Amino acid sequence: MFGFQYYAPTRVVFGKGTEGKVGELVASAHCKKALLHYGGGSVLRSGLLARIKSSLGEQGISFVELGGVVPNPRLSLVYQGIELCKKEQVDFILAIGGGSVIDSAKAIGYGVANEGDVWDFYEHSRSANGCLPIGVVLTIAAAGSEMSGSSVITKEDQKAKRSYKSDFCRPVFAIMDPELTMTLPAYQTACGCTDILMHTMERYFTNGGNMELTDAIAEGLMHTVMEQAIILRDDPQNYNARAEVMWAGSLSHNGLTGCGTDGGDFATHGLEHEMGGMFDVAHGAGLAAIWGSWARYVLESCTPRFARFARKVMGIADGGTEKEAALEGIAAMEEFFRSIKMPTNMKELGIAPSEEELRTMAHMCSVAAGGKKGSAKVLEEGDMLEIYRMALGE
Ligand code: NZQ
Ligand code: ZN
Repeated sequence: MFGFQYYAPTRVVFGKGTEGKVGELVASAHCKKALLHYGGGSVLRSGLLARIKSSLGEQGISFVELGGVVPNPRLSLVYQGIELCKKEQVDFILAIGGGSVIDSAKAIGYGVANEGDVWDFYEHSRSANGCLPIGVVLTIAAAGSEMSGSSVITKEDQKAKRSYKSDFCRPVFAIMDPELTMTLPAYQTACGCTDILMHTMERYFTNGGNMELTDAIAEGLMHTVMEQAIILRDDPQNYNARAEVMWAGSLSHNGLTGCGTDGGDFATHGLEHEMGGMFDVAHGAGLAAIWGSWARYVLESCTPRFARFARKVMGIADGGTEKEAALEGIAAMEEFFRSIKMPTNMKELGIAPSEEELRTMAHMCSVAAGGKKGSAKVLEEGDMLEIYRMALGE
């Protein structure tokens, strides 16, 4: 077991109707003017944006708006947001949406609080010294950005999707009303459940510092999400299932399921980010499409963890060798993905990269990781290419 720091400063306000408290929460952050940041229209159609404006109005909070964030959020809109915030002297950003909107808000917050080009942070050529305070009204359980210190942005002209981490961007509050997620298309609900699972799986498959309590929390979380994902597939309006998944999304990516470990593997995320950058696929679906190939590729280097996962999470019966159990566990996970209509290879995901594109993605993935990535097995560029080839599904 390794030592660790656990820092989760976000105030979580969870339950039915909690978006009505948004005015009070923004007021308590002593902001003068807020930016309301949102996506492509779901918050307009659901009436959520109007309710938020009225709650802010009751507290006398002035605001400006910037919608139009797309999944795999773009740097060009971040630049627009930075300009707008500077011009309007905005000192607080309210992100109303999912991971894409929250990440875009974080990037704008960095851009306002720091001199120079905000992309430098995502290229890791320098570090941020601050970020505007961010508040969140969450509308999809998935990325966990509402409590995380990460932000992921796509520089569209380079097809480069990059992440930047710092505690400065951790939201000051996150309003989570599970009812707000009931308007999600089934595909987005399934993508979200996959991403939530993967945030804990990335921390679970390591070769360093595993801790019994952390494993038990992780296994409970994975069980719960798989069970509730099936309930939501069949009954999307089930409030309790929406609530279970929403809270799991935050706990899966706020560091809790990594306490005491070496920090996790995160190679599947690294590999997926290149697929998102190049082909603009939904993040959760991209993860499902690459995970099985990654797992089979690294299995020999981390067999006991895969065997434990098979038995404790996927319910594979005792008996047989560890490797046999591990392989059965991977197959069972892929079966779960199929059961919620997630892809298990790139063909099912709907993309068919050429050999040259695979090489480009492997190269960019390795560059983004500083050469090597992973803990279950440390991957270099050649390994990444091999996993991409395995995942083609031809
Ligand atoms: O834009 P709108 O119209 O709102 O539609 C969105 C979007 O099309 C829709 N949606 C969201 N809430 C809805 C809704 N539709 C109907 N009803 C609702 N209540 O869902 C679509 C997807 O939204 P998005 O924000 O892209 O989803 P998600 O939360 O999965 O975020 C994905 C992004 O987060 C990044 C991913 O890479 C990806 O760019 N990640 C961020 C992380 C972080 N900051 O910690 C960690 C993750 O690993 C991930 O990489
Ligand atoms: Zn993710």
